[in-house]
Amino acid sequence: MKLVGLVGWRGMVGSVLMQRMQEEGDFAHIEPVFFSTSAAGGKAPAMAKKETTLQNANDIEALKRCDIIITCQGGDYTTEIFPKLRASGWDGYWIDAASTLRMEDDAVIILDPVNSGVIRSAMQKGVKNYIGGNCTNSILLMGVGGLFREGLVEWVSSMTYQAASGGGANHMRELIKGMGIIHSAVADELANPASAILEIDRKVAKTIREAVPREFFPAPLAGGLIPWIDKQLDNGQSKEEWKGQAEVNKILGNTKAIPVDGLCVRIGAMRCHSLALTLKLNKDLPLSEIENIIKSGNQWVKWVPNERSISEQELTPASITGGLKVGVGRVRKLNMGPEYVSAFVIGDQLLWGAAEPLRRMLRIILD
Ligand code: HSE
Repeated sequence: MKLVGLVGWRGMVGSVLMQRMQEEGDFAHIEPVFFSTSAAGGKAPAMAKKETTLQNANDIEALKRCDIIITCQGGDYTTEIFPKLRASGWDGYWIDAASTLRMEDDAVIILDPVNSGVIRSAMQKGVKNYIGGNCTNSILLMGVGGLFREGLVEWVSSMTYQAASGGGANHMRELIKGMGIIHSAVADELANPASAILEIDRKVAKTIREAVPREFFPAPLAGGLIPWIDKQLDNGQSKEEWKGQAEVNKILGNTKAIPVDGLCVRIGAMRCHSLALTLKLNKDLPLSEIENIIKSGNQWVKWVPNERSISEQELTPASITGGLKVGVGRVRKLNMGPEYVSAFVIGDQLLWGAAEPLRRMLRIILD
């Protein structure tokens, strides 16, 4: 059995990965070796078989034993360890959730329901680095990948509504704390149906400005939003926005880039990222055909007809969170012309946006 090193399995993405690997029976096919940056020598978790002691995640010799390494430890770890490991002559498969290596020529961004052809041809060529994509782009392609596959997309404008989990576990906690603080500030007034709403609003606004914590987010997220995600680039894009075109085209293996751009916005959802898309198609297709192509994208597309009630119920974080289905709805022709189509795509960013492509890549290697 292949020796598979697991690094960063205790963090948020790592924990979701462990859960999914257990659900899918992945541990039956591997000999797992659990690594730790802080608790080497301790006891490995229950999924361990023969390798029951935690190994040191910074020990190149220990890592070199593995045929495959999956890391959710983060970009700093990859930057530090990966070059040393390769320099030591290690030729195993490196599967990584961090963005560090994504755009490297000898790395493939993995999203196999969309780009299994790209992955398999890279494997045949001996590529050994397989990197999970940015969550928003993975969800975009899981949702409307069918339209890309059919060569129908001339460009796409992607306006995002990104959940707190994209920032990390601390960011999720800060969002909930903020919600609680806002509620506490007006709990008495809320309990009294006769209290004046504008007085409640005044107190809420003051609380958001002065008391909602912003240790992890740069501005209060509870009761608000933040129209910027990640670093600022010289061209006015945020790094998150830049990733759209760069990664979507790399995932698809395009030689000629399809323009992908839009604004990325953080909102107070827990772990579902949403995207409001404007797609410029290169043909005027009937909506029924567009629907069939989107549905044919992959088995996880959850098609939601463009009707009020079902969209309100099923195209929401409450409905999508915690599952693998990617909701696609609000598909209609826009006033701009018959080739302009809207779509709303929503997915759990910890699943398709982070953990799921990693475990599926492991299974592809093992097959
Ligand atoms: N950059 C994403 C976000 C995280 O901040 O939402 C997942 O790639």
